[in-house]
Amino acid sequence: MDRSAAVIHRTKYCLDEEDLPTQWYNIQADLKTPAPPVIHPGTGQPIGPQDLMPLFPMALIQQEVSQERWIDIPERIRDILRLWRPTPLFRARRLEKAIDTPAHIYYKYEGISPAGSHKPNTAVAQAYYNKVEGVARLTTETGAGQWGSALAMACSFFDLQCKVYMVRVSYEQKPYRRSMMETWGAQVVPSPSPDTQAGRKVLAQDPSSPGSLGIAISEAVEDAARRDDTRYSLGSVLNHVLMHQTVIGLEAKKQLQQADDEADIVIGCVGGGSNFSGLSFPFAADKLLGTKAQLRLIAVEPTACPSLTKGKYVYDFGDTVGLTPLVKMHTLGHTFVPAPLHAGGLRYHGMAPLVCKLYDEGVIEAVAVPQLATFQAALQFARTEGIIPAPEAAHAVRVAIDAAFRCKEEGTQRTILFNLSGHGHFDLGAYESFLAGKLQDYDYPAEKVGEALRHLPHVSV
Ligand SMILES: Cc1ncc(COP(=O)(O)O)c(C=O)c1O
Repeated sequence: MDRSAAVIHRTKYCLDEEDLPTQWYNIQADLKTPAPPVIHPGTGQPIGPQDLMPLFPMALIQQEVSQERWIDIPERIRDILRLWRPTPLFRARRLEKAIDTPAHIYYKYEGISPAGSHKPNTAVAQAYYNKVEGVARLTTETGAGQWGSALAMACSFFDLQCKVYMVRVSYEQKPYRRSMMETWGAQVVPSPSPDTQAGRKVLAQDPSSPGSLGIAISEAVEDAARRDDTRYSLGSVLNHVLMHQTVIGLEAKKQLQQADDEADIVIGCVGGGSNFSGLSFPFAADKLLGTKAQLRLIAVEPTACPSLTKGKYVYDFGDTVGLTPLVKMHTLGHTFVPAPLHAGGLRYHGMAPLVCKLYDEGVIEAVAVPQLATFQAALQFARTEGIIPAPEAAHAVRVAIDAAFRCKEEGTQRTILFNLSGHGHFDLGAYESFLAGKLQDYDYPAEKVGEALRHLPHVSV
């Protein structure tokens, strides 16, 4: 094959280490109206930095409210990100061929990080800022175990102690995720746990509770709030977390330029919203500024936990027990406990406020997909492209394949870009169940959601 043909058939677009972004993109600078304020549940008034100081270091509190478009990434963070970044952008030629679609399908592969997902992009940043401000210990929650692994690794790099409250259903489904966190030095307990008041309260009502991200957040927040040497770290939802993830989209834009292509449809799965935002916000900037009005940005969630497509856009707690400030978001109700579907990282009752605002304003779209169709897509992807997706990421694969089929039916060429946010090497129990025909779809739990929505806090802003 001559050189030009090799370029035409290129499969991977890799950047040099020097191309690792030097700044994060802060979408707040480009919003037409500011994001709704975060409210103190006691006073009903917008919170100030001092309200967040027991939980977060000041640098992250400042990033949370910053209106600067670009924020410098400290060199010590970039040094660590360079262990696996820039991540490759793949053209899914074999999948395209299998579907026989005129669409171009690209995926940004975040599974090459040591922890196996996009989560270390913010874990490293959060551990760094806590270390700089003299914090000794971090607490957090984890659903699927990806976030807990990422923070455990980041804490080991900065010599911080780390305690992870792991949602019980995942703790039982994924024992090796726990071993991974312990290898990096973290302490891991199943949530709900007897270690906190929040955990004890849930256990008293339901001793066999499968747990949820909302419950685990309550436990981790309570633990951090009661110790001076400890702060809390959240793996998604918050503005600064979404911003740390924008290295994904910034790299992907450069890589698409290398490919001489331009995205028409950008897709990511949403649990709390961080990998979707990380990929899509740098593209959303073009849409917000009017240079790419037709661009479609699609957030994908499970039908069993459809906060964007079925939730209410109101103020709610970020956790189950009600320890966090109130944020305006699409929520299924903070007391809602989702079914134990295998995409543990997508079992969250709420959604990142920035994602919700963009959804409410029609800048982004959302779609919910069922578990079985998601695993069917994961299998097709694994059998063509080789990589076994994390069940969370498989939600994005499903919608990318559906979009490619639509291109085939309509005879249109579109460029589809999705985030393959992690690999599924610790999720093979789920694949085993699927292959044995034992996986089930969970219907939208209308009654449970209705009940949870009756417990929304009252806020008049
Ligand atoms: C691989 C993977 N993708 C996606 C998610 C969902 O989180 P977020 O919406 O913050 O990207 C998770 C959460 O644990 C995950 O592990």
